[in-house]
Amino acid sequence: MVSTRIFTLLTLYLVGSEALDNGLVQTPPMGWLAWERFRCNTDCKNDPANCISDRLFRTMADLVVSEGYAALGYEYINVDDCWLDKQRSYTGQLQPDSVRFPYGMKDLADYIHSKGLKFGIYEDYGNYTCAGYPGILGSLELDAHTFASWGVDYVKLDGCYSHPRDMDIGYPLFGYHLNRTGRPMVYSCSWPVYQIYSGIQPNFSSIIDNCNLWRNFDDIQDSWTSLESIIDYYGNHQDMIVPNAGPGHWNDPDMLIVGNFGLSYEQSKTQMALWAILAAPLLMSVDLRTIRPEYKAILQNRKIIAVDQDPLGIQGRRIYKHKGIEIWVRPITPLYENYFSYAVAFLNRRTDGTPSDVLVTLNEMGLIAPGGYRVQDLYEDVDYGVLDMNTKIKVKVNPSGM
Ligand SMILES: *[C@@H]1O[C@H](CO)[C@@H](O)[C@H](O)[C@H]1NC(C)=O
Ligand SMILES: *[C@@H]1O[C@H](CO)[C@@H](O)[C@H](O)[C@H]1NC(C)=O
Ligand SMILES: *[C@@H]1O[C@H](CO)[C@@H](O)[C@H](O)[C@H]1NC(C)=O
Repeated sequence: MVSTRIFTLLTLYLVGSEALDNGLVQTPPMGWLAWERFRCNTDCKNDPANCISDRLFRTMADLVVSEGYAALGYEYINVDDCWLDKQRSYTGQLQPDSVRFPYGMKDLADYIHSKGLKFGIYEDYGNYTCAGYPGILGSLELDAHTFASWGVDYVKLDGCYSHPRDMDIGYPLFGYHLNRTGRPMVYSCSWPVYQIYSGIQPNFSSIIDNCNLWRNFDDIQDSWTSLESIIDYYGNHQDMIVPNAGPGHWNDPDMLIVGNFGLSYEQSKTQMALWAILAAPLLMSVDLRTIRPEYKAILQNRKIIAVDQDPLGIQGRRIYKHKGIEIWVRPITPLYENYFSYAVAFLNRRTDGTPSDVLVTLNEMGLIAPGGYRVQDLYEDVDYGVLDMNTKIKVKVNPSGM
């Protein structure tokens, strides 16, 4: 039960900040990304339907459209590690594995574009990618041009096999070369996470100036434990993290794992809702051929997607954490008489097997518009009408649910 003091919502804004000015991702990117679910499976001989291959990405692009994800905003089809040949071409160009991508990356990009979608690719600011394929170090300009010539729309640049100290120069330099190609490409950086791991305080003002999104913390794994560790990281470090988010520049807590093996239904709802509060990229990493309908419905919840995609682009915060109950709050549109609307998420981290009651007033959560607020439950589709800011509301929250 929430009885102790609730901290007043403090929102810090980065007023008039410079930011990467490529006009892209004014709301967080949405799409599908191979890594968490399909990893570095290169065994097309024995596992042709699941290996990292042309076929996998065409299949997922087809399903993103035919299963209704594209209509809801899921747009990018993103390749991750293990697409490359182990060698550059004789002219020094990156080239895909010729068995698994027999038509080349331009052909795949053209196909994805023909479906009305966008194409993302993966590389690494180092001598090798994390899985040991050629990195971009020494070939930044050439590789940026190669990506542009293939019709790439989004580049995720990882940070294995490089020196984190070099990243303050290297990530901006590759961004410069991307920009010089003239092709707008979303630039996703792993710059801060590698620096944090090696004890360097990231220069977030430079990161915002040079990247559209960036990873702060661990890769997500297919488990509630992993998801909880990410939730804790973003809550515990929110004063450093939250002010850096805004249109065109986002924190990336990593992929949505909804619909895979490791999360229950409640936990899946938790990830989706919390990612929306965090203004996170919504990059599904799931097998869209076999996802169960109830998980698909979570990924396709229009109202929660709308929270994620709110045009103000203000990342939410954890405003309460006590005895396993957390409250997360994000200012969103519409504004009314200079007061924000809010997305509010009640999270139950308790494991004592029965729903927990959360008793709270809107006022205690920092929602202080004199006229009150119209309250809706975005999962249950219930409209509670207009509530006064001093009305005590009671919410039942399921264990590990939202
Ligand atoms: C990358 O490879 C070059 C050439 O072998 C080497 O000099 C350099 O130290 C390597 N860089 C990193 C970050 O390992
Ligand atoms: C390159 O950078 C300039 C200046 O920030 C910006 O106006 C332009 O849109 C960028 N172009 C591309 C293709 O990213
Ligand atoms: C951060 O990077 C900017 C360049 O974007 C630079 O002007 C500033 O001095 C750097 N800050 C620190 C603390 O290194």
